[in-house]
Amino acid sequence: MDFDNLIVVEHPLIKHKLALLRSYTTGPKEFRELVSEMTMLLAYEATRHIPTQKIKIKTPLEETEGEMINDKAVTIVPILRAGLGMLEGILRLLPNASVGHIGIFRDPDSLKPIEYYCKLPPQISHDQIFILDPMLATGGSASMAIDLVKERGGKNITFISIISAPEGVKVMSENHPDVKIYTASLDRKLNDHAYILPGLGDAGDRLYRTR
Ligand code: PRP
Ligand code: URA
Repeated sequence: MDFDNLIVVEHPLIKHKLALLRSYTTGPKEFRELVSEMTMLLAYEATRHIPTQKIKIKTPLEETEGEMINDKAVTIVPILRAGLGMLEGILRLLPNASVGHIGIFRDPDSLKPIEYYCKLPPQISHDQIFILDPMLATGGSASMAIDLVKERGGKNITFISIISAPEGVKVMSENHPDVKIYTASLDRKLNDHAYILPGLGDAGDRLYRTR
């Protein structure tokens, strides 16, 4: 399966950590650590195209040129709850970024996304925006989150997930063809309850031991 909007980040470290993350024997402490580490690795690739500015610096020996990013011009938006598990990992790379929060859950019967919280920083129209959610299943939650960000002026949007289903990637390509998705894995398909196969189960429950 080939999708123009999807970048599957291939790296032995990502594969290794994903295998641990998927295993049902992995407990919440290790699960949280792995989500954080994988987000750092995915963010390394997802930030490849953010602009840099040339600066002059002095080493102990001479003056030279360097390049720096402006992470104050970055906004990170985790989708609650599970996206929160990814926040610390990306903030370690972009410590001065602004953070917005969007709360969305899937109605268990209709499987449609329901928004319950949205607080975004005011300046997002000029920012590079990274939206975080470990699971892209039907694509309903991600699409709604991007709608909310675009309604408030957001333009340069990248979505980072850990596992994506083909169904969700397709929905995103139809609803938001301008948004690139960085993921560790394109899994096989959704089951009858719209859980990703093979997946890792319910990401929020595994992060916060709520089931
Ligand atoms: C999960 C996950 C995504 C969503 C993906 O959240 O973290 O937000 O499902 O499914 P979709 O692509 O079909 O919309 P959930 O609704 O379980 O809420 P939670 O994070 O609060 O547990
Ligand atoms: N949400 C999850 O947490 N896991 C899935 O497999 C699908 C949606």
